[in-house]
Amino acid sequence: MATDYKITIEKVKSNLIEDISKVGTVNDLKLLDIKYLGRQGEVNQLFKSLPIKENPLIGKDINELKNLCAKLLSEMVDHLLQQPSAIAFDVTIPGIQLPKGTKHLITKAIEDIESIFNQLGFVRRRYNEVETDWYYAEGLNIPKGHPARDDQETFYLSEDVVLTAHTSNGQLHEMEAIKVPPIKMINISKTYRRQADATHSPMFHQFEGLVIDKDINITNLIGVTEYFAKSYFGKDRVIRLRPHHFQFTEPSFEIDISCGLCHGTGKIRDKDCKICKSGWLELGGAGMVHPNVLKNGGLDPEKYSGFAFGWGVERVLMMKSGLSLPDLRLLYTDDLRFLKQF
Ligand code: DAH
Repeated sequence: MATDYKITIEKVKSNLIEDISKVGTVNDLKLLDIKYLGRQGEVNQLFKSLPIKENPLIGKDINELKNLCAKLLSEMVDHLLQQPSAIAFDVTIPGIQLPKGTKHLITKAIEDIESIFNQLGFVRRRYNEVETDWYYAEGLNIPKGHPARDDQETFYLSEDVVLTAHTSNGQLHEMEAIKVPPIKMINISKTYRRQADATHSPMFHQFEGLVIDKDINITNLIGVTEYFAKSYFGKDRVIRLRPHHFQFTEPSFEIDISCGLCHGTGKIRDKDCKICKSGWLELGGAGMVHPNVLKNGGLDPEKYSGFAFGWGVERVLMMKSGLSLPDLRLLYTDDLRFLKQF
């Protein structure tokens, strides 16, 4: 009787050793673990089938076998893990697809704008969004108390410090930074105005171009604007200049771009074009840099001339895509139902 149970235990042990010798992968080992140490495994079967109660030594021997199984199996795991090829890894199983994001509409527009101006040799800048009155207004030929200040819905942080309502403050910073022209910058930054409704957001973006060198004139401004219009909106688009007034440019203009739908005619099959009504869409302001501004930037207006423009990122984005939003502020929410459409 005593030897019978020993033979039974020995048999399980020799089976285990043989099984382990045939193992090729960690998966094989997992199966062996179940076969020997699982709830219905060989070891537990021994506990159930052998008369442990009659002979406590049997229980002790089965426990020794159990420990041995665990030791041999774990040694084999260590051994296999040192051989990467043994890890069962099916390369044909498709991976887990992570949700793919896209760039935000505004980020994309800023990148497109930057790249078009890069092609013309403009350097991207970002200047202050919190600014002193000098760079924001006074240095741009807008004295204290001047009515031009009323138009801008400025956020004043103190009497002398504002959140910039335009990117034109970058003009003076750029002149100070470069000192000796040529200057060719495109300043794309956030701008702030005290306006919040379906068509205005208190924060939006502008891109401000500044070119200063010897003999810069209006034809240069027209050439650059036309290049931008055709690159961003399409080859068939043309521009026009309307006289306007800005304190920091002389002469000053508003620039329009021909409507993409009615091609500048204002009519579609004898009816008024729904997009533009007049054939033209307003791009924004531009002009030749005022001599006072050149002086304030430390440059000699007798020697240098330049042009500048300041246009809205959201504006060109909406003009290009024909996107009509029920509320412009949707662009700044993180509502995925909106953003996922682009
Ligand atoms: N700063 C003006 C605005 O926000 C836009 C502008 C007009 C910028 C004419 C310029 C310019 O550089 O020359 O309304």
